[in-house]
Amino acid sequence: MRALVTGGAGYIGSHMVKTLLDGGHDVVVIDDFSTGYRDAVPEGAKLVEGDITDSKLVARTIRENGVEAVIHFAAKIAVGESVVKPRLYWRGNIGATLGLLDGVLDAREGDGKPIPFVFSSTAAVYGTPDAVPIDEDHPKRPVSPYGDTKLAIERVLESYGGAYGLPWTALRYFNAAGAWPEAKLGERHEPETHLIPIVLEAALGKRPSVAVFGTNWPTPDGTCVRDYVHVRDLADAHIAALEHLRRGGESGAFNLGTGRGDSVREVIEAARRVTGRTITIAEAPIRPGDPAELVAKVERAEKVLGWKAKRTDLDTIVGDAWKFMLHAKA
Ligand code: UFG
Repeated sequence: MRALVTGGAGYIGSHMVKTLLDGGHDVVVIDDFSTGYRDAVPEGAKLVEGDITDSKLVARTIRENGVEAVIHFAAKIAVGESVVKPRLYWRGNIGATLGLLDGVLDAREGDGKPIPFVFSSTAAVYGTPDAVPIDEDHPKRPVSPYGDTKLAIERVLESYGGAYGLPWTALRYFNAAGAWPEAKLGERHEPETHLIPIVLEAALGKRPSVAVFGTNWPTPDGTCVRDYVHVRDLADAHIAALEHLRRGGESGAFNLGTGRGDSVREVIEAARRVTGRTITIAEAPIRPGDPAELVAKVERAEKVLGWKAKRTDLDTIVGDAWKFMLHAKA
C-alpha cells in the first residue's frame, strides 16, 4: 500500500511512518515542521515539505505518488492552548483539514471512489463523561476548542462520506504514551504538558518536582485516572483501520485505549520503579477542564477492526518513554 501521512514528523505520526515502512508499505509524508522534527521522519519515507491547507499540493502529491490511503495526524494538540488561542485551533485544525480533504477528493480519477481517510481524533470529544468506561455512542460534549475542532472534523467526515463516498475512520485516542526507543522515536513537545514526559524530566533532574493537579478527586487515590495507550499500539490500530476500509468495511469512529485506567500517582510510582530515581511530588490545584476519569470502552475496535492494545503494562509504557528520553539526552 502507498500511504500519505500528514504530520509524519510528529510524535504519533513518526511512529506510524516507521510501522508502515516496517510492514513493507510505501510512505509519503507531508509536514510543515511547525511542531514536528525533521529528524523524526524515518528513513525510507518520501518527504514533501508543505502545508496541507494547499489542496492543489495535496492532490498533486496523491496523483504523482499513486497514494492509496491518507492518514491525517497534522494538527494542533494542546488542550490548554486551545482555550487561550482558539484561532490557532479553528484555522489550524478545521481549516487545514478542509484543504486536505479537498485535495483528497480532487485527486480522484474520473468518477472513482475517493481513497480511504484515517483521522486522528481524541477522547476530548466526549468532554466530562457521565460514566466510565466510555463507549463511542456516549454524548459528545467537548469542553475545549481542541475537542470542538476534532468533533467538527468527525462531522465533516460523516457528511463527505455520505455525499462523496469517502471511506473514513476517526480514531479517538485516549492518552497516547510510550515511545519506540530502538527507532529513536518518542515524544518531544515544546513546551511539554503531558504527564509522563514531565514525570521523567523530574526523574532526570530537569524539573525540581511534578505538580499533581488535584489530590481530592473522586478516584481511589484522589488523583486523576487516564487510559494510557502505547503509541506503537496506536500505529498498529491505524493499519487495522486502513485494512478495514480497504476491504469495504463501514466508516465510523473507534475508541483507542487499553480499557484500563491508571492514576497520576500510579504513573509516578511506575516512573520511580523504571528509573530508580527520586521523583518529588508537589500537590497543586486542579487544572481547569480536567475530568476525574477517562477510560475507554474498547470493544468496538476489537470486534470491528480486530485490534487490541498489546503493550499495556504501565512499566513498559513508561520504560519506553524513559529509554527514549535517555537516548535524546545523550
Ligand atoms: N497532570 C498532572 N501534572 C502535570 C501534567 C498532567 O497532574 O504536570 C495530570 C492531568 O491533570 C491529567 C493527567 O495527568 O489528569 C494526564 O494529563 P496529560 O496532560 O498528560 O493528558 P490529558 O489527559 O490532559 O490529555 C490527553 C491528550 C489530549 C486528549 C486527552 C483525551 O493530551 O490531547 O488526553 O484523553 F484530548
